[in-house]
Amino acid sequence: MKMKLGFIGCGGFASGNHIPNAAANPNFELAAFCDLSETHLQQLADTYHPGYVTTDMDRLFADPAIETIICATKPDFRLPVMRKAVETGKHLFVEKPLCYSQDEVEEMVRLMNGSQVKFMVGFNRPYSPLMQDLKPLFQKFRSGNTTIIYRIIGEARLWPKHHYDAVVHDKESTIIHEITHIFNLINWLTDMTPFRVYTAGCGNMDNIITLNYPDDTTAVIIAGDNSTAGFPKERIEIDTNFSVLTGDEFVELNVYGHDGTRITRTYDYKMAGQTLNTSISEAATNAWNWRQSITEEEKARGYYYERQVKVDKGHYNELEKFRQWIRNDEPSQTDVIQGAVANLTAWRAIESWEKKAPVEMDFSYLNAL
Ligand SMILES: NC(=O)c1ccc[n+]([C@@H]2O[C@H](COP(=O)([O-])OP(=O)(O)OC[C@H]3O[C@@H](n4cnc5c(N)ncnc54)[C@H](O)[C@@H]3O)[C@@H](O)[C@H]2O)c1
Repeated sequence: MKMKLGFIGCGGFASGNHIPNAAANPNFELAAFCDLSETHLQQLADTYHPGYVTTDMDRLFADPAIETIICATKPDFRLPVMRKAVETGKHLFVEKPLCYSQDEVEEMVRLMNGSQVKFMVGFNRPYSPLMQDLKPLFQKFRSGNTTIIYRIIGEARLWPKHHYDAVVHDKESTIIHEITHIFNLINWLTDMTPFRVYTAGCGNMDNIITLNYPDDTTAVIIAGDNSTAGFPKERIEIDTNFSVLTGDEFVELNVYGHDGTRITRTYDYKMAGQTLNTSISEAATNAWNWRQSITEEEKARGYYYERQVKVDKGHYNELEKFRQWIRNDEPSQTDVIQGAVANLTAWRAIESWEKKAPVEMDFSYLNAL
């Protein structure tokens, strides 16, 4: 039986990712779209033909046919949606990061810890095909001291103005908006949470963040925005047990094992509607050519993503995984605790930057909330 979905918050991200991904998945039915913008709803209705559209989210919660809600509002409007989902017994997926304050994150944990509904936070990277392959290979080779380097460096001058203002002028910080993804990913890869964080850099953007894990694993996240989108944004390198595992931009995975194992795998990506599967160096050339082709007029309109290299960061798979956990009555693997740990790590990382000193962390209290 298809799972009937209701979407709350159908802005840029939901309309570019979750709605088309759910529409492409035969296991889902688009039951309803809810947003504050009627114009936006009309455009989406014309493209995707959901059961109905509304500006009133209560209509979705009162609709017995809707089983699961996908919420992609901004972090300042998540808690009311979570309360309603618990009250009405709807399963709920919410985008990351969970919220903007520690009081709210703890209330969210309390709410979901005591509830029967399935809940998932949209940290998608673990569900990318490359990371799904990388984790078991890491588990196979992992032993002794382990160092993890994660590079995530983009181009801030291509961001939409509202996002740039939020990060730079309103000090929302990329550590909260983007690096929470990487905290979550490394916790998932290592099956641990860090106990210490140290941040050096510029604060809101362009930082080097070090995480210490209990088993002598150390992770360094190089998180910047002063680069070019014509160069692959993300790269992971794991060094462990005289072996190295790398993942480049969700396009190419490499393993150099201590036992002589040598693996190279490449993953599909899309460009201008075409599916490609190439080496990372060819994908990088494609990204560079795309970046050079953006006109000033396109930049001014904020319209240049159509031809962009789009790598598979797991957005399609995360919704399908969530559906399977609901259908099989299995626990969500990216639950409220994982979401809260990522948020709390971000706030401690910012505190470390402000104090110019490492900050200790202990998340064990979250399970007891
Ligand atoms: N996982 C990822 O890779 C990824 C990438 C980009 C953005 N995001 C996240 O997605 C979220 C949304 O970002 P966005 O860029 O789409 O923002 P956006 O402002 O474009 O969309 C938010 C939408 O929520 C709607 N909304 C607000 N209050 C509402 C209410 N009460 N009822 C119904 N709709 C309401 C707004 O009208 C708006 O259309 C953010 O939390 C962002 O961090 C995730």
